[in-house]
Amino acid sequence: MTTRIYVLNGPNLNLLGVREPAIYGSETLEDLRARTGKAAAAHGLEIDFRQSNIEGELVNWVQEARGKAKGIIINAGAYTHTSVAILDALQAAELPVIEVHLSNIFRRDQFRQHSYVSLAATGVICGLGGKGYELAIEAMANILATRKA
Ligand code: DQA
Repeated sequence: MTTRIYVLNGPNLNLLGVREPAIYGSETLEDLRARTGKAAAAHGLEIDFRQSNIEGELVNWVQEARGKAKGIIINAGAYTHTSVAILDALQAAELPVIEVHLSNIFRRDQFRQHSYVSLAATGVICGLGGKGYELAIEAMANILATRKA
């Protein structure tokens, strides 16, 4: 049985590659999906990689993860800074959560320096671009291996 991880991406991340490349880089969301999938396979994990611009859809996917996945990696985009609903869903999921941001949110606008998602996250990776997704997979693999032991 493969161990599935949900990798959830929030609003505007579908525009990666064309959206503010100086901040978010030139990789597209599809590039990120491929890169994350490759890292997952190397750790014996399978990913379900999704993106939505809709807050409620992200909430639904987090709820769904509870029964279908062993962990959640989430870049909630701007909802990171606003969504109590996503926080509540993550807390209800009772799964390890790793929060990822492509940019270093602590070097940017003041309003980006607070994250609701962090309140539910085991760890946070930010500022390392797409590499952060690979690192999140590695961290998730470690967390799951430690739990099994
Ligand atoms: C982001 C950072 C957020 O502040 C922003 O709203 C995004 C992307 C990142 O990956 O750096 O949409 O989550």
